[in-house]
Amino acid sequence: MELMEAISGRHSIRDYKPDPVAREAITRLIDAAIQAPSAISQQPWSFVVIQKQLLLDRISHDAKAHLMSERPVAGLPAHLYERLADANFQLYYHASVLIVISAITRGPWRVEDCALAAENLMLAAHGVGLGCCWIGLAHAWLNTPNGKKTIGIPDAYVPVAPIIVGLPKAPAPAVSRNVAEVRWIG
Ligand SMILES: Cc1cc2nc3c(=O)[nH]c(=O)nc-3n(C[C@H](O)[C@H](O)[C@H](O)COP(=O)(O)O)c2cc1C
Repeated sequence: MELMEAISGRHSIRDYKPDPVAREAITRLIDAAIQAPSAISQQPWSFVVIQKQLLLDRISHDAKAHLMSERPVAGLPAHLYERLADANFQLYYHASVLIVISAITRGPWRVEDCALAAENLMLAAHGVGLGCCWIGLAHAWLNTPNGKKTIGIPDAYVPVAPIIVGLPKAPAPAVSRNVAEVRWIG
């Protein structure tokens, strides 16, 4: 797939087939993620791959409950709380895999580095016909001591990018982009 085509053809997928994703395919995505640039080449990332659907159900439930309890301070749009209140709404859209990219250092650019790894991973997934979506709603709970313990990472790690991956049921419609605000100087 041509690079510009891959960049503009990737869309967040929220409807998945139940089929598992082969471990080699997931490894290829992680190989693509770690090709990302990182400040001072610190490569401050670590990956957790969760495929157990019962665990994904449980951590969706806990992350939703956490967000609802934070409602007064979290400041999310009202329509998101309506979705979170729906017991049938699973944060991970029943995708076969959740990959959590966490920062393992305290460096000043750790979040940028992990986000770049996440974009590489998502583009690579699209390139091999897999769907994916960054699940920011999972972020707050993953960063709690209980969240870190549940996904088996040390307390010092900082989860940055929870990315679901799976076989798409259908291509997602493109989300239009705002015209870029650009100031040309010179
Ligand atoms: C940091 C971040 C957090 C996101 N969190 C969620 C989320 O919790 N749930 C969801 O369905 N999509 C989430 N998305 C996906 C965005 O909604 C999506 O990227 C955006 O609507 C543009 O659509 P596209 O990815 O298809 O181009 C998130 C994306 C980013 C970058």
